Amino acid sequence: MAPSRSIVFLVLSLWGSVHSFQPLFTLNGKSTTHRDITRQAILRKTAEVCRDIAASEGRPFSLAIDNALTVEKVQSACSGNSTSVLSTVRFHTSIAIMYFSNALVDVVYALSEEHHFDDETFKGGREVLTTDVAAVKASVKLENYMAGRIILGRACHSLQDFYSHSNWVELGKTSPYSALITPDQNMTNLAGPDVATCRNCTNGDCANNLLPDLLQQGLLTSGYFNIFSSKKPAGKCSHGGSFDRTSKKDPIGGINKDTVSSSHGPLHQQAADLAVNATVELLENIRLAVGDTNFLRLMGLSQSTVLCFVIDTTGSMSDDIAEAKRVSFEIIDKKRGTQQEPSAYILVPFNDPSVGPLVLTTDADKFKAEINKLSASGGGDIPEMCLSGLQLALTAAPPSSEIFVFTDAPAKDADLKSTVSALIESTKSVVTFMLTDVLASRRRRSVPGQWARDGSSRAMNQVAAQLYRDLAKASGGQAIDVTKSDLSAATTVIEDSSTSAVVNVFQVVSNPGKPDKFNFTVDGSIKNMTIYITGTSSLTFNISSPSGASQSSSVSSGPLAAMTTAGNLRRLRLHSDNQTGLWEIDVNSNNPYSVKVIGQSSVNFIYNLVEPHEGTHGDYSLKEGRPLTGGNATVLVTVTSDAVKITEVTLYDSSGPTEVIGTLLPQDDGNILVTFTDIPAGDFVLRIKGGDSTGSRSTTNSFQRQASTQIKPSSISVTAQLNGTSIEPGSSISVPFTVASMSNGAVNQNASGTFTVNAQNDRSYTSNSPTSVTMSGGRANGTVSLTVPSSASSGTVVTLTITAQNSAATDINYTVLRFSVTAKVTDVTRPVCDVVSTTGNCSSSVCSSSQWGLTANISDGVNGTGIDSLTVRQGNGTLNTSTSISGGVNITVASYSASCCSPSVELKIVDKVGNVRLCTGQVKAAAATTAAPANTTANSTAFGLHSVSVRHSLWCALLLPFFWW
Ligand SMILES: *[C@@H]1O[C@H](CO)[C@@H](O)[C@H](O)[C@H]1NC(C)=O
Ligand SMILES: *[C@@H]1O[C@H](CO)[C@@H](O)[C@H](O)[C@H]1NC(C)=O
Ligand SMILES: *[C@@H]1O[C@H](CO)[C@@H](O)[C@H](O)[C@H]1NC(C)=O
Ligand SMILES: *[C@@H]1O[C@H](CO)[C@@H](O)[C@H](O)[C@H]1NC(C)=O
Repeated sequence: MAPSRSIVFLVLSLWGSVHSFQPLFTLNGKSTTHRDITRQAILRKTAEVCRDIAASEGRPFSLAIDNALTVEKVQSACSGNSTSVLSTVRFHTSIAIMYFSNALVDVVYALSEEHHFDDETFKGGREVLTTDVAAVKASVKLENYMAGRIILGRACHSLQDFYSHSNWVELGKTSPYSALITPDQNMTNLAGPDVATCRNCTNGDCANNLLPDLLQQGLLTSGYFNIFSSKKPAGKCSHGGSFDRTSKKDPIGGINKDTVSSSHGPLHQQAADLAVNATVELLENIRLAVGDTNFLRLMGLSQSTVLCFVIDTTGSMSDDIAEAKRVSFEIIDKKRGTQQEPSAYILVPFNDPSVGPLVLTTDADKFKAEINKLSASGGGDIPEMCLSGLQLALTAAPPSSEIFVFTDAPAKDADLKSTVSALIESTKSVVTFMLTDVLASRRRRSVPGQWARDGSSRAMNQVAAQLYRDLAKASGGQAIDVTKSDLSAATTVIEDSSTSAVVNVFQVVSNPGKPDKFNFTVDGSIKNMTIYITGTSSLTFNISSPSGASQSSSVSSGPLAAMTTAGNLRRLRLHSDNQTGLWEIDVNSNNPYSVKVIGQSSVNFIYNLVEPHEGTHGDYSLKEGRPLTGGNATVLVTVTSDAVKITEVTLYDSSGPTEVIGTLLPQDDGNILVTFTDIPAGDFVLRIKGGDSTGSRSTTNSFQRQASTQIKPSSISVTAQLNGTSIEPGSSISVPFTVASMSNGAVNQNASGTFTVNAQNDRSYTSNSPTSVTMSGGRANGTVSLTVPSSASSGTVVTLTITAQNSAATDINYTVLRFSVTAKVTDVTRPVCDVVSTTGNCSSSVCSSSQWGLTANISDGVNGTGIDSLTVRQGNGTLNTSTSISGGVNITVASYSASCCSPSVELKIVDKVGNVRLCTGQVKAAAATTAAPANTTANSTAFGLHSVSVRHSLWCALLLPFFWW
């Protein structure tokens, strides 16, 4: 019988702390969490890949790969001798996406035994892994790295749980169970359904509860777990712990190693260490399939931002398109081949009614070709589908990207405002609008008679422009109004933002505007400081530097800065000397204005709203949506430098001004949990202040940073009750959700009325949802259904945003849900490599004087998807291929030849779904140069995998100490 939903969700909220490695945090600090395991594995494998790349390019690499790796150390080592300012924001952000997705498995798949390798579901668990791993590889092929990270985080969870929930560690194993990620390998030695595996623990001591017979025979089992029923097959082990009812039944007790105080707590660290190594092995498997460059992209090891344009392509936009082309080409040509080259390019054209298609590529030339194809045509009847285009960009770009929207028309799809706001807040992306001629009294696209009523069209344009200003403000971007002829002066903001390590030092929006003075601290790490001021032409200002120099708005080239003006934007590039200390800007305007101060620095921070599990044992999960007015909010803050320490985190609303000071709870790994209580209504931004690594804040070492995205508390809560995060092509998912009216953080049971509901997905998949829900007892329930077409590609992610608005239209809240499209994998077998001959003789003492060769037949079998790539992974020879057909199977014949100075070869063969075969060979009688046993013959991993793995390791040990697996 299915448990009632409310019980399930009560239990789910308790779950994270009781049935898995702790997802994110531990109270006692002694237990290792999924977050620790995932981060350690990512750092280790990323460092190894960077080391291998450095070795292949003959560059030095000095980082020791051990348990003391930090994001900063790895990024710095991987960046070689780069002289630009380094930022670890992207890497930190990517790792966070992976561990939050990992942690979500405990919430969403709480009752799925496969996702945790409970109940001896080894085959089921491996199927889950196989599907997800193939989807990660497919995501990378689609260059959809965001999707890849989300799916990879989920896969890591199941893989890691195996080491806590099974008896693998108790069997004395010291290396990962590779069959879990090698689906064509048989899983042997599984304890059968009738095999007893445990006996009673004695007086609560479970150290010896696994049956000796089981251990002697080396049989694999895992604990049964159930929170509703104590039923389990006779003689089987339980998971253990207070929530596991099965562990109260004979045989009593459990075997999990989730924390140091679990049933098998003394083995916790061993299990966690093996889980790290297993995760490293999984990452190596993915690396082999996708290649080193793409692997590093997947990990987010990138200095640079994406270049993201959303462009109106209606008839009047040809000048704007030409300018977008010019500025993007300039950025591309200037940065190509440097670490500042954009990590990806995104282009979303829109007009009416069409939006897209979205172009997402890492290939600068492909982007150039796509932007070259744009032409302004059609239109005539404004408005256009601007927000739909922006929605696409927001879900495709990595978090914290800056998106530039070019348009000269109002948005026709203004009803998407709440969805777009939700996505801006969820992704923390910054949206800057280049609004050309929007406020001009005569629109060039006007068709005589149609938009001739200048008065009314202008009024409407003011309203329309306000929508863009609101979105810019919510995101920390700018709404730049320029004439088409001035546009090229305004696009310098795009060049400014596409340099590396851009940080936000200070930002304020005053609306309605009033004269005000603002102070901000500039630290010694800041380079290329730039100030933007937007406002009407009557705005004046005065800037004073720490040394007492000042410059007013009437001076374009003064003692402090060089100023350029384009439309409503003034850009001041500060001179580089004497910047450290307290600055002041004095603005005089009674119209809306904004001030933004940026620079380049490696000192920055990332943050995510998290929420405690109910009945908490100290753990949290990611919170999507706005915090509650009058309630508490917790933020996980990560600073991106080892050299500084955060001493103060506040929520700041300049309109009050109101400042809510957070309570800091530092974690072992340098992250900080910050809690704010009783948050009032307002438009806040997160501000951090700090000093050097000891926290000292003298005038010379204090720093401040400010998040771009606004945090707006809401009195509405929107929660979805997910029972899965992956959907197969051609199937549907139902998402029940609850909207509640909240007062001081609790449901207001006296509230009544309706909420307007809007459920939007970014892929235009068929979706059904109520357009409003009616409260009873302060709550209202609804269900959204989403259908994924059978043509959807595995490895994509669909983002579903559910927003709810109160009937007075004064308040909204939302939740953002991301589902991966994952298809069942039919080709689970690796390609086959059959070495048919080795030729040549390398016995001569001068290796360069002779050659050797190898011929191998390669295929992906009758049911395979086919060979996708064949590359030489190790060896300095040349590879030629030809194809033939044998027995209805396509055979690739690989002919490799090399000098005797390169006496071994490793070929990498990848099939179309990413199954990888490594195929090694070496010349006969190469004893003198390789120290391999005499008369060793060519070898292939096609058959007898096990023995070849051993051989491969031997080779690694002898020749390539770093190619371990
Ligand atoms: C440093 O970088 C330059 C330019 O990228 C390169 O030519 C040089 O070889 C590098 N030096 C080292 C030691 O990596
Ligand atoms: C994990 O791998 C590292 C590096 O190969 C090795 O030194 C360590 O002993 C392994 N840990 C376990 C628990 O097997
Ligand atoms: C795996 O098991 C299947 C069925 O038991 C068997 O047919 C197959 O040969 C085995 N494969 C290997 C590589 O041992
Ligand atoms: C295990 O313990 C339970 C409860 O103490 C007891 O009823 C049961 O007989 C024990 N089983 C064995 C095999 O000793």
